[in-house]
Amino acid sequence: MSVLTILEFPDPRLRTQAAPVTAFDAELKQFVADMFETMYDANGVGLAATQVNVHKRVLVADMSEERNQPLALVNAEIIGKEGTQVYQEGCLSFPGIYADVTRALKVTVKAQDVEGKAFTMEAEGPLAVCIQHELDHLAGKVFVDYLSPLKRNMLLKRMEKQRKQAASA
Ligand code: NI
Repeated sequence: MSVLTILEFPDPRLRTQAAPVTAFDAELKQFVADMFETMYDANGVGLAATQVNVHKRVLVADMSEERNQPLALVNAEIIGKEGTQVYQEGCLSFPGIYADVTRALKVTVKAQDVEGKAFTMEAEGPLAVCIQHELDHLAGKVFVDYLSPLKRNMLLKRMEKQRKQAASA
């Protein structure tokens, strides 16, 4: 297994549309294992393939405190949404910045597992946020796209400042 490099905003590759997975082979299983390793290494709760510059419809998540509830979704699609929630989101491609985003409270998701087996699941609360956030990545969208230009610029300036400080430290 290996830890993959995570693209950071404003890398234009984060705007790539991911293509459906058609081969459920050893390469896919290895890639999913690497995504989990990368996400856990970065202390993230979710990661989309787009963020590691692989443009296939794969996402991983683990919202548990104990980091022992790995969820991998291949070719996931939201087929139902209910309610709304405001949740403070962060993103491994935006180190150090967080912002409130309004999304659906509950989602029904149709997906495949790494073997290609189709299933439907329901998610609510933080897991529903995570799935919506990661699916956006696969469509080339990022969470700051939801913010007002003023708020977005403020956060991106803050991120740039932190990046410079980290580089000079
Ligand atoms: Ni993200």
